[in-house]
Amino acid sequence: MRLRRLLLVSAAAVALGGTLNVVPVSAGSSPPDPSNQSLKALGQRHNLYIGTAVDMAALDDPADPKYRELVKSEFSSVTAENVMKWESLEPTRGTYNWGPADKLIEFARKNNQKVRGHVLVWQNQLPTWLTEGVANGTISTTELRDLLKKHITNVAKHFKGKIWQWDVVNEAASDPWDSPSSIHLKGFWAQHLGPNYIADAFRWARAADPSALLFYNDYNLEAFGDKGPSDKTYYVYNMVKQLKQSGVPIDGVGSQGHLGTQYGNYNAFQVKEALDAFSGLGLSTAFTEVDVRSQMTAGVQGGDSNEINPRLQASSDNFSVLMQACLANRHCLSFTFWGFTDKHSWVPTWFTDPLEGLATLYDESYQPKRAYYAIKSDLIFAGPPYVLPRGKK
Ligand code: G3I
Repeated sequence: MRLRRLLLVSAAAVALGGTLNVVPVSAGSSPPDPSNQSLKALGQRHNLYIGTAVDMAALDDPADPKYRELVKSEFSSVTAENVMKWESLEPTRGTYNWGPADKLIEFARKNNQKVRGHVLVWQNQLPTWLTEGVANGTISTTELRDLLKKHITNVAKHFKGKIWQWDVVNEAASDPWDSPSSIHLKGFWAQHLGPNYIADAFRWARAADPSALLFYNDYNLEAFGDKGPSDKTYYVYNMVKQLKQSGVPIDGVGSQGHLGTQYGNYNAFQVKEALDAFSGLGLSTAFTEVDVRSQMTAGVQGGDSNEINPRLQASSDNFSVLMQACLANRHCLSFTFWGFTDKHSWVPTWFTDPLEGLATLYDESYQPKRAYYAIKSDLIFAGPPYVLPRGKK
């Protein structure tokens, strides 16, 4: 009798599995315990690449083997945190320093990881010879445009065939707290070359490496606001729509995902709505720099669990919301953390007044935090084979 019931349940599971596209679980057995699997293995079940930004100094530090070990074991995609930026690649005009970036590419190749290229055009971390040359008038506007074309061409060609997604243009749009508060193109490139540098950059990148996916990358794109003039997500949506309609070779939008627990933030439906809007334009999406920082009050720094626990829980929830939205958007190709350990995170060096931190999945001693388990459970419970066919008891 018991056997018959099991067989019936199993048959029903097979039937449901066919229609719902879930892998049936045979009677009497349960799926292998996934809790010991890596993030990358769990991501693979959804064809989702799980990435991290890599700090090359930490990767190369023999005194810090755990860093290297975890980059290798937990992630299927890597992004150079700094070494592919213009100031690192060409610190002196005409002299390229490919070494550190090549090292990362080689590391990724050996470990079967994809590489997100970061970044071809950005107003920060530019070499001083370039910014000073423009400021003192020795580099003209025409020459600046030629230099940008040369930079994109040289860099994309150097890494040709080795980059999965390029962040072609980064952080071009202003924020509502800038002046004027209506969103506009900001920074060095818009100021000196005007708005057309964006379309040019994508065309030059495509010509140099036709097989890389070309992304526009920015922060504060997690959800739409009121779709008014100060709504950055809406501004970027219209900008990339316009680029697409004009035949500019753009393939995706990267939503960085730098969040803080002191803010209201979003629910997974709002985030999915934004991703769906971008993919509705025929673009891929990706989370490219996810971290969730918290204010390091005196209590947090003093180890007061009353202050630490709510932050760890809020952080976990925010990570999870982004992951759930990414899993729900079938064009979300990768989910990259901007570092994975509080031991190596840009946050405390950047946000000092008040001090912020606790922004990553692992603490400073490489102990996984609540957020790590939340991300894992999202990857596990979001679909087959761990979700059984549903039905009445
Ligand atoms: O390389 C020098 C080193 O020689 C010197 O000893 C040290 C002393 O401070 O500074 C080092 O440079 C620092 C560099 O990171 C490498 O560690 C810079 O001061 C520091 O400003 C730089 O910060 C980086 C920041 O971008 C700069 O804009 C962060 O590491 C990096 O995480 C951050 O990444 C950006 C993304 O590219 C774009 N999106 C936002 C994200 C966070 O700001």
